[in-house]
Amino acid sequence: MNIINNVRQLRSWSSINRGTRCVFVPTMGALHEGHAALIRAARELAGQSGNVVVSIFVNPLQFGPNEDFSKYPRTLVEDLAICRDNGADAIFAPKADDLYLPDRSIQLFETSLSKTLCGASRPGHFDGVCTVVAKLFNLVQCDEAVFGKKDYQQLAIIRRMVRDLDFNIVIHGIDTVREADGLAMSSRNRYLSADERAQAPVLRAALLKAREAYIKGGERDGKVLRQMILDQIAAEAPLGRVDYVEVVDASTLQTPTETTELVAIAVAVFFGSARLIDNIELK
Ligand code: PAJ
Repeated sequence: MNIINNVRQLRSWSSINRGTRCVFVPTMGALHEGHAALIRAARELAGQSGNVVVSIFVNPLQFGPNEDFSKYPRTLVEDLAICRDNGADAIFAPKADDLYLPDRSIQLFETSLSKTLCGASRPGHFDGVCTVVAKLFNLVQCDEAVFGKKDYQQLAIIRRMVRDLDFNIVIHGIDTVREADGLAMSSRNRYLSADERAQAPVLRAALLKAREAYIKGGERDGKVLRQMILDQIAAEAPLGRVDYVEVVDASTLQTPTETTELVAIAVAVFFGSARLIDNIELK
């Protein structure tokens, strides 16, 4: 496994490997079983003759002033072992000042999909995600890239960016990997107290119940589904503070309309300082 620490090295790696299929997994490190599943999926897509590249970079541009950038867990040694064990060929782990020059003056802005859900309470976050992912796509020169459905809005925005900016890259969405009790794996779960951790699976439980009401009970009223989820969170997770519960069209992330093909529900709930997200597709 190649460990690449700066842009210059990555450029020479990319030019040596030109012509070899490349599947890319962008991450911020603090890797867990969810990331491992993405790396394994990339390995399958690349086949034995292809390359799997994982980036590990805590992107300062996507953190708000009061968010956990400096506190974000950095566990490079363990991360490298997870990458190796799951079949990565190369790791790109640059320093921030290698990726962002002090006088940089060009950035991407997303003007539609990022205005709802997580984007509404994290202004600028998805602009920072788009900017770094576009830079990484240009550097890594991949043919395909793998993202988790756990970050549902992020996946929709990356698909839109690839479409709107004509990146010649196939994007794959991978199902959320969960703890045994249903809690979506996240590097932020480690911030939870024991009591908060015990209540956090309510997100998944409430989403599953809403899906059942939609599919088996025929409930099509988004307001009713939303209220069911809010009620269950209030009843089972008194330590949770809801940021949002939204029933949306899976591709526009807006309120579903007659032409909506797939409805999704996305939730974000604070437990202490940790903000947990989850989602479900109603199919
Ligand atoms: P990070 O939070 O490290 O996530 C990296 C990738 O892992 C994302 O595509 C995310 O959706 C996926 N992932 C996280 N938890 C998962 C789980 N439980 N199951 C399946 N996939 C999971 O997302 C980012 O980093 C950054 O915004 C990034 C795209 C790297 C840009 O900086």
